[in-house]
Amino acid sequence: MKRKLLSLVLVLAMVAALFAGCGSSSSSNKVGVSMPTKTLQRWNQDGDNMKKQLEAAGYTVDLQYADDDIATQVSQLENMINGGCKVLVIASIDGNSLGTVLDLAKEKGVKVIAYDRLIMNSDAVTYYATFDNYMVGTKQGEFVRDALKLDSAAGPFNIELITGDPGDNNARFFFSGAMDVLQPYIDSGKLVVKSGQTDFDTVATAGWKTENAQNRFDAIISANYADGTNLDAVMCSNDSTALGVTNALEANYEGTHSNWPVITGQDCDIANTINMIEGKQSMSVFKDTRTLAAKTVEMVDAIMKGGKAPINDEKTYDNGKGIVPSYLCEPVVCTVDNYKETLIDSQYYTEDQLKK
Ligand code: BGC
Repeated sequence: MKRKLLSLVLVLAMVAALFAGCGSSSSSNKVGVSMPTKTLQRWNQDGDNMKKQLEAAGYTVDLQYADDDIATQVSQLENMINGGCKVLVIASIDGNSLGTVLDLAKEKGVKVIAYDRLIMNSDAVTYYATFDNYMVGTKQGEFVRDALKLDSAAGPFNIELITGDPGDNNARFFFSGAMDVLQPYIDSGKLVVKSGQTDFDTVATAGWKTENAQNRFDAIISANYADGTNLDAVMCSNDSTALGVTNALEANYEGTHSNWPVITGQDCDIANTINMIEGKQSMSVFKDTRTLAAKTVEMVDAIMKGGKAPINDEKTYDNGKGIVPSYLCEPVVCTVDNYKETLIDSQYYTEDQLKK
């Protein structure tokens, strides 16, 4: 009798455990967040914001950084898929390298949101959350145009160009946005690119790395500006490349030339914001990662609850398999004149973080 009772209790306990497993299993509301690297400030902020906001919305989060290594990102994604994530939020290292792992996601019914960078040639991408990348570029181009007064000053002015990683679809949008503004001035001779380096592949920076930008720029300075010729502007697509340019100029230009060029950037990284305050970088395009995270959480929520996510663009981002419905957040120009309102009043940074 006692034994029968014991086995009945055991069976009941097993059934209860089974039901609990179905309903509250941590995997049923698990979201995988895959970020490219910890070495660039912005992705740490993106990861933190995503995790914080997803957890606040009740989701369990598996957040991974892939050390800018494609194989690492692929294996982290495999683990997320096999570990029961229902949605993957991915900022890809190389937008062209995730096709196979995303086929697995699709097979298992896992939905994918491309975060900030579009994932190419995969039909497994449900949504794309990003900033208006073309607008980032036009804002940089317009800044150079206005700072040099290209429409009224006689010129000519010397400019050099530097953009991002060729495997990042964004880099092409940034560059073409900027060049659509600047190219007419190059064509008319008002802007001169002394190095002659103007096509995307030549001005690209592998891995968006500061060091690579710096090396290329060292060579540009010594070949074209070492004779004392002034460089008037450098159109840099983001802050990590702008930092490389600034380092090169500090080493081989400052002190031997009568000016300091206009330098553009993007992200408002701390080091670059300090450079703006010190007059070494003219602008950066601010992309509030909190806003992007909030939009992405809305997308995750819509997918999880079977609804439709907010999107505001259904024409721009074709990933080779069709248009990916997107939400484009708006980038903002940040300079020494508005960084306090933009970055400190909005509590993106504290005043102390911007002290050298
Ligand atoms: C992002 C930029 C960032 C760059 C390098 C791009 O995809 O949109 O904000 O500066 O990658 O990480």
